[in-house]
Amino acid sequence: MDTYVCGRCGFVAFGQAPDICPVCGAPKSAFSLDNSAVKKPSDPENLSELEKKHIPVVNLVKKCGLVGPGCVDANIRIGEILHPSEAKHFITYIDVYLDRKFIARVHLTPENLNPAAGIHLRASSGKLLAMENCNLHGRWMTEVTI
Ligand SMILES: [Fe+2]
Repeated sequence: MDTYVCGRCGFVAFGQAPDICPVCGAPKSAFSLDNSAVKKPSDPENLSELEKKHIPVVNLVKKCGLVGPGCVDANIRIGEILHPSEAKHFITYIDVYLDRKFIARVHLTPENLNPAAGIHLRASSGKLLAMENCNLHGRWMTEVTI
């Protein structure tokens, strides 16, 4: 599936560029086709240490105590080996998609934050995709079935 990147905020759209960027409001003309926008592990069965530090890990909790019945928590950490969170090297954002449609961005700073986020889904099925951006090592993603 083609990936289009917003030149203003780095948002990645799947399939086609949107009329308006759902993150920053930039017009379609700000998007460019870039099928290498998201990094992929060279051997998914044998991840390198760098890959283990960047590929998001998604933990779904199907009974949420915060919002109530039907809420699914998606807890996302970067990554299997926790990514650094320091001024020179940190995760700038985590974007979340449902069935490859954007639903949320969590902005992160290295100050007093772990490279992780939690969101509360109203959806009870579909595919959840988490994509992170590292200021040094680019975008990486994981997709799981709810
Ligand atoms: Fe990194």
